[in-house]
Amino acid sequence: MDTLTSLLKLEGNIHTALKMWHEASNQTSPLDYLQLFHRSRNRGTDNARQVTNEILFEALRVLAVEYQGEAELLRKRFLDGLVMHAVANQLNIGLSTAYRKQKEAIRQLALIIQEREHQARSEYQTSLEKRLKLPPETPLFGFDNHVDVLQKVIVSSKTCWLVSIEGLGGLGKTALATALVRHSELSYQFYDVIWVSAKQQDYLPGIGLEQKASPALTREALTDTLLNELNADSSVAKSPQEKYTLLTKLLKQDAYLIVIDNLETAADYQNLLPLLRELATPTKFLLTSRHSLRSYPDVYCHSLTELDPEMTHCFIRHEASIRGLSLLTNASDAELKPIYEVVGGNPLALKLVVGQISVLPLSQVLGSLKEARGKTIDELYNFIYWQAWDMLDPVSQRVFLMMPLAQDGEVEQLLALTQLDIDTLGEALQHLARLSLIQVQGNLEERRYTIHRLTETFLLNEAIRWNIAA
Ligand SMILES: Nc1ncnc2c1ncn2[C@@H]1O[C@H](COP(=O)(O)OP(=O)(O)OP(=O)(O)O)[C@@H](O)[C@H]1O
Ligand SMILES: [Mg+2]
Repeated sequence: MDTLTSLLKLEGNIHTALKMWHEASNQTSPLDYLQLFHRSRNRGTDNARQVTNEILFEALRVLAVEYQGEAELLRKRFLDGLVMHAVANQLNIGLSTAYRKQKEAIRQLALIIQEREHQARSEYQTSLEKRLKLPPETPLFGFDNHVDVLQKVIVSSKTCWLVSIEGLGGLGKTALATALVRHSELSYQFYDVIWVSAKQQDYLPGIGLEQKASPALTREALTDTLLNELNADSSVAKSPQEKYTLLTKLLKQDAYLIVIDNLETAADYQNLLPLLRELATPTKFLLTSRHSLRSYPDVYCHSLTELDPEMTHCFIRHEASIRGLSLLTNASDAELKPIYEVVGGNPLALKLVVGQISVLPLSQVLGSLKEARGKTIDELYNFIYWQAWDMLDPVSQRVFLMMPLAQDGEVEQLLALTQLDIDTLGEALQHLARLSLIQVQGNLEERRYTIHRLTETFLLNEAIRWNIAA
């Protein structure tokens, strides 16, 4: 919605809200789509009328600083509840002038509320990014259409309570869910957003990977996690049944958007879908999964596929430019074509390959990868990761192997795990980041280092086993 239409809409809603000033407390408000409204409700006021009046009252106070006459007119008309004739008389103006002034005053009020809303949205966005630990915002290629379609499905569909983003590893399912959560037009439709990750594997030091046979996310674990995210008072709900009742009450009271990332196994679906179905409406769920839920008729499934050649080329050029690889950034489509032919349009695989091109010549990187042609995506990843592994010096390999133990870790944690000095560790981290084997997140004071799930799988399934065997 452009600014003009949203301002017109806001003016209309403010007028309606002013007319309702003296109505009894109620659950809805013409301003309930505003972040300002959500924020006040989050502070504990449950009465929609009272929250709305507080927003209007504060805006009227600001209006009075510059436009005292207009603010007075609105106060008399709506707060004191006078008919327009009486207001005009009291202000010593004609009736038509009074109506014109009221229109102008509402326009000014809308401008004030709009500015406060922008501020509230930007504060909400910052706190959301921090609370959900979202990765830094990067350009996402070929996503516009996906975001448009899914945003509409999630917001507007009355019947669809669960949306699943599906596709192979590394295609961008988590990145798309992140983009959706960041998309203000979507997140403001909800009271709040919650993000839960279903963990698939347990890492046991010295043994390696233990694939979980049981569900990654049990009903009880999900209930506890959600109650925790909702800051629910745990003292009132101790038994599983009490917790379930409390969670249902909270999720039915307000519409939340709950993202469950990596809900992969059949055990997970069978266990969780009945619970999610009960908890939904007005709350909605968004899942990401490498497996399809198409066999469930009440789930909206959205498949991600590889980037097409054109988008792949744009993506390669972008990845090259952030690494300062000017030859690759300026390469023609014909020069980039061999990369697409060997790697395809899987963003994570492309990122890793561009990382390798920053260390070795393109022909050499692609030459070795040709062996992986025609293999499954898992085999392609294995090839790519082993190739990257061979480019690492022993210290970087050591740091890399420690990463599953320090997911989302800070430097102090890595220093303790690797027993390296800060300079040596810094160099190794730089090397790993250049090859896209780790992602650096957070700000300057608080850097965090993460690895992608597929990288973790490689380390735990391949590299650590090989290391133990060697
Ligand atoms: N369209 C895209 N444009 C730019 N970068 C992308 C795009 N899609 C994915 N990426 C990047 O590729 C990497 C892999 O994406 P992501 O983690 O979302 O994949 P995934 O499908 O969730 O994988 P998995 O199944 O392993 O969880 C991330 O670094 C992500 O930012
Ligand atoms: Mg993912």
